[in-house]
Amino acid sequence: MIAIGCDHGGYELKEEVLRHLEEKGIEYKDFGSYSGEACDYPIVAKKVCDCVVSKEAELALLFCGTGVGISMAANKVKGIRAACCENSYSAKYTRLHNNANVLCMGGRVVGAGVACEMVDAFLSAEFEGGRHERRVNEIMDIEAGRNPEDRL
Ligand code: RB5
Repeated sequence: MIAIGCDHGGYELKEEVLRHLEEKGIEYKDFGSYSGEACDYPIVAKKVCDCVVSKEAELALLFCGTGVGISMAANKVKGIRAACCENSYSAKYTRLHNNANVLCMGGRVVGAGVACEMVDAFLSAEFEGGRHERRVNEIMDIEAGRNPEDRL
């Protein structure tokens, strides 16, 4: 299952992406917001990311105006590696190399076509591990308050 969330700046784009997921038969859980009314993106980010950390969702998609604010909030949740992307190359490689578990997009930055391409690239790519494993572990060291250099 894919967890989804947005604020008012990402609402329209989220709706387009939900239609795309439905067409592809991909199961999702929509944590809102459910209208274009102003709301605070950190609150949505927390709910969606908790769902990923608890493993109820495999991955998540988040939307705000730029994709940036909601990615900053998401990255404060322990266990989350959120990537704000604007093209499908980045969306693919953030899964392959960074083992990102959340893709963030800006409703005022990208159109529905680009967003759906990014979603497809993100959801179909798998973490490559290997040399990237150590680097991702170093990211998680920083999150845990450890010095990643101690690992070398
Ligand atoms: C809301 O106006 C906007 O600030 C928000 O959607 C987002 O872009 C923040 O990073």
